[in-house]
Amino acid sequence: MAYTLRRKRLNPVLRDLVRENHVRTEDFIYPLFIKEGENIANEVPSLPGVYQLSIDNVLKECKELQGLGLNAIILFGIPDTKDSVGSDALCEHGLMARSVQTIKEHFPDMFVITDLCFCEYTDHGHCGVMDPKLETVDNDITLENLTKQALIHAKAGVDMIAPSGMMDNTIATLRAGLDGAGYSHLPLMAYSTKFASSYYGPFRDVAESAPSYGDRKSYQMDPANAKEALLESLEDQAQGADILMVKPALAYLDVVKEIKGNTDLPLAVYNVSGEYAMLHAAKNAGVIDYEQVMMETMLGFKRAGADIIISYHAKEAARLLKGNA
Ligand code: PBG
Ligand code: ZN
Repeated sequence: MAYTLRRKRLNPVLRDLVRENHVRTEDFIYPLFIKEGENIANEVPSLPGVYQLSIDNVLKECKELQGLGLNAIILFGIPDTKDSVGSDALCEHGLMARSVQTIKEHFPDMFVITDLCFCEYTDHGHCGVMDPKLETVDNDITLENLTKQALIHAKAGVDMIAPSGMMDNTIATLRAGLDGAGYSHLPLMAYSTKFASSYYGPFRDVAESAPSYGDRKSYQMDPANAKEALLESLEDQAQGADILMVKPALAYLDVVKEIKGNTDLPLAVYNVSGEYAMLHAAKNAGVIDYEQVMMETMLGFKRAGADIIISYHAKEAARLLKGNA
């Protein structure tokens, strides 16, 4: 008599039929951290299960990923030498160029994305060239260097470039640079709405990219700002971004929903290192059913409007989804 909305929850087959959102293995991009050298696999204490890998070990990892149905990776480089401009990232024989070439040579079907930034390559750890007077990253000099870096990745055979530095006019500049050099087919996934977040802590351990002084608040966004979050993404859309992104994910699902409602572009979320580390800490403390909570979190991203999930959980999720298939 009193059953109304519950009628559709009584039968598991019907629950499947009326389910609105799904997490799929194809939704994920898996981040990889590549360290100069050979036979390196350094697990990072703040990110259990995430390793700094040398290129030889990255190839083994790619094989495992493909076995799980994970065919998209985003690469971060950890070079041996850093300087004030991030020269390793500007060199055709630098770590990232060699990494992309080697991965594409062995795994032509792997969709290889590169994170385009300088914080892992500069000795000061900021995302570009510093302007000593303003004590921040110089926008336009950094744009010139980002274009050089992007062309190196393009030449190495990358499938998509994801600029993460939050410099103004990045997308228009890179689009023009790539188009002019014959790479108009290369898509750009913009880190379009990226907050100055404390959730990036563990990433900076693994990527060895913490700023040696100051913070990133003069280029990354204020976590308090939702209207500006929409402006940032729409600006990147206007400049020619192919995919937009919100980063971090979990504390910003309102922003995800708002942007999704205002664009027809695909939207990615970056489920960042601190979010991953929190769930692992809760698991280790024995206070949650880790796998259930993790998948529920992924579903939350989809429900909020994410099409793509960049996540350190990708392998765990893929294993669970395989088990369910
Ligand atoms: C580099 C970059 C960062 C992340 C992705 N690209 C760190 C930062 O801005 O300091 C963070 C990812 C994570 O926390 O998992 N600009
Ligand atoms: Zn950076």
